[in-house]
Amino acid sequence: MAKYKIAEIPGDGIGPDVMAAAVKVLETLEETRDLSFEFNRLVVGDELKERTGVALPPGTIDEIRKSDVALFAAVGDTAREVLLPIRQQLDLYVNLRPAKVYPNVPHLKEDVDIVMVRENTEGIYKMIGDRGDGWGINVRVITAKASERIARYAFEYAVKYDRKLVTSVHKSNVLNYSCGVFQEACQRVAEEYPGVEFNEVLVDACAMRLILRPEAFDVIVTTNLFGDILSDEAAGLVGGLGMTPSGNIGDDHAMFEPIHGTAPRLAGTGRANPMATILSAGMMLDWLGEKDSAAVVEKAVIDVLKEAKTLTPDLGGSAKTMDVASAVCEKL
Ligand code: IPM
Ligand code: MG
Repeated sequence: MAKYKIAEIPGDGIGPDVMAAAVKVLETLEETRDLSFEFNRLVVGDELKERTGVALPPGTIDEIRKSDVALFAAVGDTAREVLLPIRQQLDLYVNLRPAKVYPNVPHLKEDVDIVMVRENTEGIYKMIGDRGDGWGINVRVITAKASERIARYAFEYAVKYDRKLVTSVHKSNVLNYSCGVFQEACQRVAEEYPGVEFNEVLVDACAMRLILRPEAFDVIVTTNLFGDILSDEAAGLVGGLGMTPSGNIGDDHAMFEPIHGTAPRLAGTGRANPMATILSAGMMLDWLGEKDSAAVVEKAVIDVLKEAKTLTPDLGGSAKTMDVASAVCEKL
């Protein structure tokens, strides 16, 4: 039987609520499939910082390294102090963010099925800069190495999941130095994949086209900050952050997380939608190589949505977080 050690990182706000829902789904899978999980709970975030002065204890990254994979829920004000070191020190260079329309989820646009492949280790997120009296600088670092490997991931993803088009999104008309490196790296990699269509869009035009013609996009590959912004936009198109999972993926390690934050007003009320975290757990299973179980989790989510009996308030229902988890478990 396959046995996986999972670093479980609930964080703050609604984090523990949605994490409990996802863990329940994984525990139910243990009963129904040939799988077993050992959860290693790691405490990070705002509340920890208030108590101890640190948001990310020094041993955390090693604990993740020792696990097969990590599942993360949400942290608030300390997100930068927690997420960025994990992403950068574990070299989780892909931030994979699918955005698609699920049944009975109120959405702005039909036919959206976009996969955002966001570079996750450099760009403006390098946190290089300075602040003086009346001025501030953030340095944007773009390397050919990181750009090429993210482009290659996007094309490999397209091949593996039978996607037709990869769109490189940048702003090389203005950010000529840094985006120039990214743009050329994508062009070089595209030549290795003649079977996948390739085009380029400037980020401002992309932001508009996502609203007007989202069906024109398939796989988007872009730099860190552009991917941060565009993935929230894409999430908005398909019904908001309650439904959008993500994966931080490297060659050796990975951490999956819902895109949403801590939603402090909902914390502990049982009103948080756990679907994004459950879908993130599904992506995690896919990454672990448990393709069937991953598909089963997504199908269970879709079945619950189709039935529309057990939905949280953001989806127009009155069910509680754990009711949704139970409904998904029943479908497993
Ligand atoms: C995200 C978040 C983070 C980011 C913040 C909280 C550090 O917005 O995961 O998209 O900017 O990457
Ligand atoms: Mg973001």
